[in-house]
Amino acid sequence: MSFQVSFIFGGISSEYDGSISSLTHIISSYLALAPTERPFSVKHLYHLSRDDGLVRTFPFHSTFTISEIQTYISDTSRPGRTLPDSFDGIRSCNEYIVNLLPGQFGEDGGVQTLAALFGLKGTFGDPQVASLVMNKYAMSSFVSSLFPTGTVKSPKTKLVKQSYSDKVIQIANSVEGPIVVKPNSLGSSLLTEVFESPSGVGSELCNIVDRILKYDSTALIQKFIPGDDYSCGCIVTSSRTTILPVVRIETERDFFGHAEKEDSKLSNKTIVDRDDVVSDRLKSATRLIASAVGIHSIGRFDFKVTSASEIYFLECNCIPGLSQDSIFTKMLLHEGMTVIDLILLMASHSYSFIRKPHLIE
Ligand SMILES: Nc1ncnc2c1ncn2[C@@H]1O[C@H](COP(=O)(O)OP(=O)(O)O)[C@@H](O)[C@H]1O
Ligand SMILES: [Mg+2]
Repeated sequence: MSFQVSFIFGGISSEYDGSISSLTHIISSYLALAPTERPFSVKHLYHLSRDDGLVRTFPFHSTFTISEIQTYISDTSRPGRTLPDSFDGIRSCNEYIVNLLPGQFGEDGGVQTLAALFGLKGTFGDPQVASLVMNKYAMSSFVSSLFPTGTVKSPKTKLVKQSYSDKVIQIANSVEGPIVVKPNSLGSSLLTEVFESPSGVGSELCNIVDRILKYDSTALIQKFIPGDDYSCGCIVTSSRTTILPVVRIETERDFFGHAEKEDSKLSNKTIVDRDDVVSDRLKSATRLIASAVGIHSIGRFDFKVTSASEIYFLECNCIPGLSQDSIFTKMLLHEGMTVIDLILLMASHSYSFIRKPHLIE
């Protein structure tokens, strides 16, 4: 086995559980392979605890069982290290790290900045790209500028910041029709709601904006786009970008919100691949956006498509879920790949981000 791969997972965001599910799926897929079939060796599992923000390193050994993950992550009695301390240790081991920390600090440029400062090898990527991608408002403006003729549009969006949170109703009224209220840079569709019309729901609307502003510096009020959700993933290596099959997500209320994400019975996900015009358009849009923004190893792009086949960009996820039921895993399977194949490809063929020198000589 030529490659040694380690994983950092858990994290301090509301997407902690998703990170544990991704790791569990990866490790159980790995353990399901006969030892001689395993294409890389797992070196360390680094758990970033949401309770105390410390990193604890698990030994991965030849008789590792999946139940050990739960035992280890719930044991905070063992000494932990701060993230910079751990990254210093990782630097000296020269290992390849797969970053499975979604959401705040893991996906938004926080952990990527530290990894770049320590010169770590892995899937972290460029901190500036991570920050841009995680900022839904900035990313939508970026995408709109790539499609000046409107082949991919962005929903009409208004920003709400703390300083003008007393004008929520006025702002909402300026976006006609049903609206969506959501955080600018949190994930999992938490605090994401649709309102038929701002009138009559004023207090509910202000309440959700207040709650968003406790966790995010900006809330978005967006025009509701009717239609199905579509998602398209990509894998970027140093030699090529692979666009994965497109998944269509149908829901009863045309809204893939938190409830629909928690209960698989509330959505119907299907692969829409060959000979489908919308799928072809989404794939070429994904290729263009991924290359323009500088997606580093993987990305999953969320869109809405109306009944008139208009495409609206919603967001991009640089650390998409990799659990057994995740949309990205479904895309991979249809491409004939497992999460283990994906990790091997990233570790062997993607380039690690290297910070450029800061001083101009
Ligand atoms: N402007 C919108 N119009 C219609 N549905 C939306 C809109 N914004 C978000 N949604 C729904 O909410 C879901 C979550 O929103 P998204 O922007 O992808 O953020 P996240 O997935 O990070 O919560 C989308 O998949 C979509 O179903
Ligand atoms: Mg989304």
